[in-house]
Amino acid sequence: MIDPNDFVIARKRKKYKFAKFANAKNCFEYNEFLLQGPTLLQGWTLQIEMGAGTGLFSVELAAQHPEAVFVAIDVKGDRLQKGAYEALERGIENVLFVRARADQIDQLFAPKSVEKIWLTFPDPFPRKHSAGRRMTHPNFLKKYATLLAPKGSFCLKHDNPAFFSWSLEQLVGQRWHIKELSFDLHDSELSDDYKIKTTYEQRWLEEGRTTHFVRAVIGE
Ligand SMILES: C[S@@+](CC[C@H](N)C(=O)[O-])C[C@H]1O[C@@H](n2cnc3c(N)ncnc32)[C@H](O)[C@@H]1O
Repeated sequence: MIDPNDFVIARKRKKYKFAKFANAKNCFEYNEFLLQGPTLLQGWTLQIEMGAGTGLFSVELAAQHPEAVFVAIDVKGDRLQKGAYEALERGIENVLFVRARADQIDQLFAPKSVEKIWLTFPDPFPRKHSAGRRMTHPNFLKKYATLLAPKGSFCLKHDNPAFFSWSLEQLVGQRWHIKELSFDLHDSELSDDYKIKTTYEQRWLEEGRTTHFVRAVIGE
């Protein structure tokens, strides 16, 4: 049964989270970042996370890599604010949070300016007619290719085998080169950076799923 009072409270809670996003100095709406991004990022090595959710993965990466700046991107400000406040509380200043759609990234960043693009547990959109929304669709891969610096990498983490193998096919079809691959990341010898757990990943691992991982580059 739906209790209207719960509904009102839930809506208020969401509004409160949006207000927190708007008030945080490390959170930006798309239009704000279009203006301020170039100055904020100038001179930094840049890594971005697409569909970052809470952005806690980017926060942890930023804590471990003070030499780079990380930008966590998601359409949902109420999720991003969680990572943003975690970063503020811990005094981690090299991570920023941008509320934008994945297809807008080529407006947010200059060509060849990104060292690493992380795509962590994107929605798999299993229906065939929704394939265009998958963030590993060729239309997205083409945008990633234009943004990556010459030695830059694209890293994908996912639990869904069907989505993961479809994504591998798209990468190969778009002439990306697979540099690192694991169907059970946490049981592999791959870098500890890759093993930092995202919010969704934590949940899936507790349910007994495994994390698939690929790092790919465009060109050599
Ligand atoms: C399954 S969640 C994973 C969140 C996070 N990466 C994690 O692993 O905990 C997928 C996220 O992608 C975001 N998302 C979906 N479509 C998007 C789009 N077109 N642009 C930006 N974010 C998107 C959703 O809002 C959601 O937070």
